[in-house]
Amino acid sequence: METLRLVLLFVHVLGFAALLGGLLVQVREDTKVVNPVMRDGIGTAFLAGLLLVGVLESLGSPDHAKIGVKFAIGLVILVLVMANMRKPSIPQGLYFGLLVLTIANIAVAVFWSPVHA
Ligand code: HEM
Repeated sequence: METLRLVLLFVHVLGFAALLGGLLVQVREDTKVVNPVMRDGIGTAFLAGLLLVGVLESLGSPDHAKIGVKFAIGLVILVLVMANMRKPSIPQGLYFGLLVLTIANIAVAVFWSPVHA
């Protein structure tokens, strides 16, 4: 089970790294868009995150409050990305909102005490 947790965590990290990369690559661009890298990234991070919760439940009692916060932030990002996927451009405010939420979820993951003992 530990191997499965590590493989899912590996996929989870690749997912949100793609999301963050898809955002940062256009930080200096005047026109911001939701690109396929962001879509695939949040989709992968979200699915791997949910599967990770399942694995952690079987390994013990994970911190549900931390997972709840991460799930809520992840869901907002997922919905905003999917809803704006086909738009020729997105407002600067939405772009920076997605960037701040993504960085916030990394901060929650890293600075909030480990999700499982
Ligand atoms: C943009 C979205 C997300 C980002 C940036 C993100 C970031 C991270 C990071 C940096 C870690 C590693 C933390 C560490 O091991 O110290 C992590 C682990 C984890 N994430 Fe996420 N996450 C996101 C979405 C989600 C979602 C939606 C869920 C599901 C509810 C989730 C559940 C988890 C779990 C359970 C772990 C712990 C894995 C473990 O230690 O075994 N994450 N996440």
